[in-house]
Amino acid sequence: MDVTKGLEVPGETLEAEVKAFFDSAPPLQNSDGITQLLDQFIKRNSSPSENGKARRIVCVTSGGTTAPLEQRCVRYVDNFSSGHRGATSTEYFLKAGYAVIFLNRKGSFQPFCRSLPDDPLLECFKPTDESNIQVCEAYSEAVKRAVVDHHTAVTGGLLLKLHFNTIFEYLQILQIIAVSLRCIGPRAMFYLAAAASDYYVPWKEMVEHKIQSGSHLLDVKLVNVPKMLSVLRNDWAPLAFCISFKLETDSNILLKKATAALEKYKMDAVVANELSSRKEQVVVVTSAENVVVKRDKSRSDNDVENPLIKLISEKHATYIEHPGR
Ligand code: PMT
Repeated sequence: MDVTKGLEVPGETLEAEVKAFFDSAPPLQNSDGITQLLDQFIKRNSSPSENGKARRIVCVTSGGTTAPLEQRCVRYVDNFSSGHRGATSTEYFLKAGYAVIFLNRKGSFQPFCRSLPDDPLLECFKPTDESNIQVCEAYSEAVKRAVVDHHTAVTGGLLLKLHFNTIFEYLQILQIIAVSLRCIGPRAMFYLAAAASDYYVPWKEMVEHKIQSGSHLLDVKLVNVPKMLSVLRNDWAPLAFCISFKLETDSNILLKKATAALEKYKMDAVVANELSSRKEQVVVVTSAENVVVKRDKSRSDNDVENPLIKLISEKHATYIEHPGR
């Protein structure tokens, strides 16, 4: 099997594909507001913190993007990702002293909510009388912890949450974040755990109204979404530390695919994970070594993201000292 399939991106073609993608995208709502929020966030986290150094800032992407089939969208192609990886990693990055820009799919898993049930608002609270509610005893500690930790991170200016639904919104916001973070050079990190659509219908070729049912065959042409990793690396934020992810269901090709992506897109590391074991172990692939990272079941904070973020954060610290590649 050719594991480099889908990785060939001749320079000129990629440039044209990227231009076509952004030219065809519907204008992003509130892009000025997003830029303003980012500028404030970066400025705030660029003055020295307690250790006398400016904080490191990581952009964590999380959840799956959609590719709409209609402009007034009723139907879309979705990507698998619950957002658990991104949300949990965000918590550990905050613990490690990072400021985090959490670019996440609306409605996906959120940081600090791991101990809460699926529908926390309805399950964690109960009415005491007609006009009052209180937290159910069983969840009182978990709710308090989640609310306090989230509030502390957001009001302390350490967590900025931005949302996307479509692949258009995701890549447009990612570009704004990358260009905004360029000014902090190697202090910035991209941790790209989102599952981005590989195919999309260009906006101008998309029907406006809901596709009518009735015909036996639905003929929709989907175009390859250009891989933005090399654009991020070469143009948007050339000095940032870049971690991408590789998900496969066939463990026999996982490491080869991750290594091919590392080389092709000049990532600093690629986190390789297999669908069924992704919460148990991952492999961090770098040009120097492959490190297997496993969940430590003996600890209370026993997520695989705990040792993973420790390792990535150490590699980032080394990179800041010697930013050459
Ligand atoms: O959210 P969970 O349920 O916890 O699951 C976590 C996860 C399995 C989704 C996560 O750990 C993971 O592996 N995310 C990447 C999924 C994937 O297969 O990515 P990909 O092969 O489509 O892309 C690889 C990298 O290229 C990604 O970092 C992506 O951000 C980037 N990409 C993808 C498409 C595209 N057009 N441009 C890109 O830059």
